[in-house]
Amino acid sequence: MARSAADGVLDRIKAVVGPKGWTTDPHDIEPHLVEPRGLYRGATRMVVRPASTEEVAAVVRLCAAARLPIVPQGGITGLVGAQVPPENGDNIVLSLARMNRIRAIDALNYTMTVEAGVILADVQKAAEDADRLFPLSLGAEGSCRIGGNLSTNAGGVAVLRYGNARDLALGLEVVLPDGQVWNGLRGLRKDNTGYDLKQLFIGGEGTLGIITAAVLKLFPRPREIETAFIALSKVEDVMEVFARARAASGDQLTAFELIPRIGIEMTTQHLHALSDPIAGTYPWYVLLEVSSSQTAGGLRAMLENFLAAQMEAGLVVDGVIAASAAQAAELWRIRDGMTEAQGYEGGSIKHDVAVPVSRVADFIVEACAAVSRAIPGIRPVPFGHVGDGNIHFNLSQPIGADKVAYLARWEEMNRIVHDIVAARNGSISAEHGIGRMKVEELTHYKTKIELDLMRKIKAALDPDGIMNPGKVVEIDSTSS
Ligand code: FAD
Ligand code: MLT
Ligand code: ZN
Repeated sequence: MARSAADGVLDRIKAVVGPKGWTTDPHDIEPHLVEPRGLYRGATRMVVRPASTEEVAAVVRLCAAARLPIVPQGGITGLVGAQVPPENGDNIVLSLARMNRIRAIDALNYTMTVEAGVILADVQKAAEDADRLFPLSLGAEGSCRIGGNLSTNAGGVAVLRYGNARDLALGLEVVLPDGQVWNGLRGLRKDNTGYDLKQLFIGGEGTLGIITAAVLKLFPRPREIETAFIALSKVEDVMEVFARARAASGDQLTAFELIPRIGIEMTTQHLHALSDPIAGTYPWYVLLEVSSSQTAGGLRAMLENFLAAQMEAGLVVDGVIAASAAQAAELWRIRDGMTEAQGYEGGSIKHDVAVPVSRVADFIVEACAAVSRAIPGIRPVPFGHVGDGNIHFNLSQPIGADKVAYLARWEEMNRIVHDIVAARNGSISAEHGIGRMKVEELTHYKTKIELDLMRKIKAALDPDGIMNPGKVVEIDSTSS
């Protein structure tokens, strides 16, 4: 877009949002151009921070008329570059950060209506204050925002019991790419009135519209929580223990997170005041949590009996049950510190994949062997939400390797790992999304009919391609 025409649109946008609602100051704009892994860097004409749905709609109408692309942003913690504006800078970033009000809590209906810019930890806290639970939980919860969580269909550590973000939203308010506002803020558990439109925007990564508010599902607040850290000698045993834990605890199993030995070494070496919770050295560990909304649910006894039985069966070789909430938090710090700790070990080629739960172990064995054949000395760090079949198959560079040369082999590693995933009918993105990082991979692994349907949906809602261009699927918008 020509500079003079763009300046005119930017001036009108500034008038809509007022002086607190925009910035062109390079220092203020800087955090909006980057992402946590430092893999992408974009540019923008302006960061706009509307304070209401009406302001978002007015801004979008101006952009639509001028065909000026918009990049929606929440907490900027996404891991696939979806929130980073294109390098050509011909866009505005629309941050939802000022739309951070809890609009209503209906405790009897077990729902909460929130604006898109509320930080996830604040959503959790507001639910707790109402004696309820909002269960979405992930390492970035102190900075990611609920609109971003919904737009990426975030997963995290409690999907096993409560589902991912898609399962936790009952209704949405969305500003469409032409500036119309769709008010779908219904708090209904049952509503079979045609297509479920909200599902288009959940996981849409900001490519179909801007979520401005949501009705979220709440749950009874857990009153008893038990956390165990267990060691196992074979990855095949991990999934057998998982199956047994489900059977023994019913729906009380809340988390089942895999950590390999190298993960213990990296976290205890690099993160402040963390120590190995188990004295011996074992190849695999699991952090598992059970919880109940009852105070005398007998969870501790159940967990003790369960672990004793698995040790007797030879599946679990050692373990601890947290003696206090503080000790449980320490155990979780190891798990939550996995991403940060790998950052200190040089280049990390990351894969966020899913396979059927029954195929997790054979996926890990085959994929570790395949990448080690391709790059001798490579250090696989398979960890994460294996109870959901979701493995963060991260590959740390060989010790002493050149980081740039190593990272240059990312696509080669993708093909090796993703082909093994595809052979198990798995997913190349379990919970992080497609963003910029996996646009090519999506076209490689989705069928033609899937890609055609996605492009038709994108073209129907956003024919001019102004919503977060270059992410997820691309359409030819020049002919519209
Ligand atoms: P952003 O990064 O700002 O945006 C992400 C995408 O959503 C972009 O496409 C953006 O355009 C779009 N978007 C944002 N807000 C809106 C809106 N209101 N309307 C429309 N589109 C919008 N993810 C998991 O799923 N599970 C994990 O366990 C997990 N752990 C993490 C741990 C760490 C340490 C870090 C740094 C990240 C982790 N993530 C995880 C990834 C990330 O936190 C999630 O993807 C999160 O949901 C993104 O939210 P955000 O507000 O930061 O969104
Ligand atoms: C996590 O579960 O810790 C993140 O989703 C993993 C990652 O950073 O790859
Ligand atoms: Zn994860």
